[in-house]
Amino acid sequence: MTLKVTINNLDKMKHLKNELTRFLMAYKFGLDEMNTKINILKEEFQYVHDYNPIEHVKSRLKSPDSIFLKAQRKDIDLSIESIRDNIKDIAGIRITCSFISDIYELATMLQKQKDITVVEVKDYIKNPKANGYKSLHLLLEIPVFLSDRVENVPVEVQIRTVAMDFWASLEHKIYYKFKKEVPNHLLAELKEAAGVVSHLDHKMENLNKEMDRYKELP
Ligand code: GTP
Ligand code: MG
Repeated sequence: MTLKVTINNLDKMKHLKNELTRFLMAYKFGLDEMNTKINILKEEFQYVHDYNPIEHVKSRLKSPDSIFLKAQRKDIDLSIESIRDNIKDIAGIRITCSFISDIYELATMLQKQKDITVVEVKDYIKNPKANGYKSLHLLLEIPVFLSDRVENVPVEVQIRTVAMDFWASLEHKIYYKFKKEVPNHLLAELKEAAGVVSHLDHKMENLNKEMDRYKELP
């Protein structure tokens, strides 16, 4: 009896795994589409303005393991439907820019594209998280044309400056190192570092603007 149940469960899990693989394919295509859009903007911007607002792009597809872990953490049903409805960062792209103004310019260029639907914008630059985290998060939907249907795939795009990225990487490392129980003095120093990052970002932005004004002079 127990064995039968186990085999039954195994069958179910195999079925879910096959379903999940097919489901994840659409997200991979969504990432490909979005990466193409970003590359087009990058190349064309360089050509027209002789300037590249994008320093670095990194994309990732959430692994089935992390999807299951997140589903458990969020206490949601382990079905394709509930994963689709509740986990919006299966496809993720992180873009780093030199300057804060580049972030908003790039975000506007993406948001204006006719085949993109803007689902959500979280501006953690204007409203940083309590720990000091800054970034602009866009949840965008992009159509993917499959053999028998069109799927609108959500892609989470995080845009930040190089300095914000530096801070977020270290904060992430510290957070995991201390298994989410970070000592208070480190939390305070991280927050202070976030202030320094912000100050640097504004200083660099102003320097760059000033340099642009010099360029305009004869
Ligand atoms: P999740 O359940 O993690 O997706 O959170 P959420 O749905 O509230 O989304 P949110 O926009 O707040 O954060 C999504 C992603 O942004 C995370 O998976 C991280 O990549 C990044 N992020 C958000 N907050 C922090 C932070 O405090 N530190 C760092 N290093 N990254 C963060
Ligand atoms: Mg997330």
